Amino acid sequence: MITPDELRSKYLDFFRTKDHAVISGKSLIPENDPTVLFTTAGMHPLVPYLLGEPHPAGKRLVDYQKCVRTGDIDEVGDPAHLTCFEMLGNWSLGDYFKKESIAYSWEFLTSKDWLALDPRKLSVTVFKGDQNAPRDDESAFHWKSTGVPEDRIAYLPASDNWWAAGPSGPCGPDTEIFYWVAEGMPPAGSNKETDPANWMEIWNNVFMQFNRIDEKTLVKLPAQNVDTGMGLERTITVLNGKTSVYQTEIFQPIIAAIEFVSHYAYGSDQAKDTSVRIIADHIRAATFIIGDPKGVSPSNVGAGYVVRRLLRRAVRHGRKLGIEGSFLSGPAMIVIERFGGAYPELVENRERVLTELAREEAQFLETLQKGEHEFEKMLPNLLRNPQKIMSGRLAFKLYDTYGFPIELTDELAGENGMTVNRAEFDEAFKKHQELSRAGAGETFKGGLADHSEQTTRYHTATHLLHKALRMVLGDHVAQKGSNITTERLRFDFSHHSAMTAEEVARVQAIVNEQIARDLEVTMDVMPLEDAKAAGAMALFGEKYESVVKVYTIGDFSKEVCGGPHVDRIGSLGKFVIQKEQSSSAGVRRIRAVLE
Ligand code: ALA
Repeated sequence: MITPDELRSKYLDFFRTKDHAVISGKSLIPENDPTVLFTTAGMHPLVPYLLGEPHPAGKRLVDYQKCVRTGDIDEVGDPAHLTCFEMLGNWSLGDYFKKESIAYSWEFLTSKDWLALDPRKLSVTVFKGDQNAPRDDESAFHWKSTGVPEDRIAYLPASDNWWAAGPSGPCGPDTEIFYWVAEGMPPAGSNKETDPANWMEIWNNVFMQFNRIDEKTLVKLPAQNVDTGMGLERTITVLNGKTSVYQTEIFQPIIAAIEFVSHYAYGSDQAKDTSVRIIADHIRAATFIIGDPKGVSPSNVGAGYVVRRLLRRAVRHGRKLGIEGSFLSGPAMIVIERFGGAYPELVENRERVLTELAREEAQFLETLQKGEHEFEKMLPNLLRNPQKIMSGRLAFKLYDTYGFPIELTDELAGENGMTVNRAEFDEAFKKHQELSRAGAGETFKGGLADHSEQTTRYHTATHLLHKALRMVLGDHVAQKGSNITTERLRFDFSHHSAMTAEEVARVQAIVNEQIARDLEVTMDVMPLEDAKAAGAMALFGEKYESVVKVYTIGDFSKEVCGGPHVDRIGSLGKFVIQKEQSSSAGVRRIRAVLE
């Protein structure tokens, strides 16, 4: 038996012996990236470095990172997919490449000193080649040199073996490593292509050599990088001889807490087991998201909408198990207890997590009761429809009048042999709601922010704005969030009341005065303590490395930041604040453009 704590330590220790610097994982809520709601992979916080910025800790890095992927939400409940998971990752930023990456992975997995997995139960996939890049014979060659037989190597297309975090950003061919999860030994000739269900992916080594600018343009990166991601939950699964992540000690205590409140014994009924797994996954994910240093509360927009959806889906599945009242906090407390060691923020934010869960749950139970009651009233009429289609208009009425979520209307309709006309619902939804794109549930798959000239300019302007706000409003102003597109910046900061027109004008004037001075932007690498001592602004609650990059703008601003930035700020043009408004309690939001 190996525990998650042991696996994390072993992974970091192994890569330390290969001269990797251990860096800390980051928040689940990405900074400066308008295209994704969550950190979706260990590489996500490293994007600037994969694109060529030097990393203060060096060229060989290792860490563990909590991730959330909502694109997989429909697969949650199966043996391997999770909304929230941990990724163990090692990186080479223009240092070693395929040969060493493959050798390290193999050694860590199979060496008696490390994980000691049976090599006969491992298989791999490599990129088959297409118009973007040739077949990855080099990786195949290195696998064979380490002793992987030819028939355990599957050559697969880009859909399997080309990795990109999103529609833009660093990407490249990958090679993935799988473990045999069926009975006995894998037969000769078996691999991911011939036998997909019996091989569980545990590790992905991406050879990032390209930056995708847009759909048509792929440019070579300045350096050849390695980005790997090992799924902690899956690796624990295979190391402990299990076939599903839910059988592991990661999930068993959470499942036991659900069994306790539902009086349902896991393993007695397939449909109910799926509900238990969905509840376990969703409560764990919501606990991590709300308990993040940049904690998100359930709401109708962006990441908050995802949390809401996760919790509401958990409640709904709780009802399928016969749970009538509230139950989320018990399993959530287990999550906090089990993961608080590796993620101390969960312990620090315990009260907030439990309060938010209780509030959302109570509110939703009320909504559910009303919505279901209304659905039942509609049902006799609905069942008369020979096509078994529920109109989107009615589904929207349930949403609009009672707050009843469309996903649940879908489920209720499904349970009664009907489908909902989603196109019609979506149309009504669009017309009546001014929700953000994210709130409408579309940003789930995500992409990565580009590092174009324009976003770099906005990034630098954000530093100017941050400093100017502190000058005008006071030192209590701290960055709460930043979101940049090629068209504008959006900056959230702590401040108790609306800014006056005069304050807004002063902040804008200060930024423009600095731009007129055409200050130079310089970067230094230094220990975090020195950066703080030098008065550099840093994000409260963010985890930094012990050595950080500090960007200084003339004599005006100093911030700990990953970059990139413009060289001189005269190039920014005119800074215009378009809007100042409330973002949430005690947090204001500014939207500004460079003209
Ligand atoms: N970035 C790669 C992944 O998430 C390693 O699979």
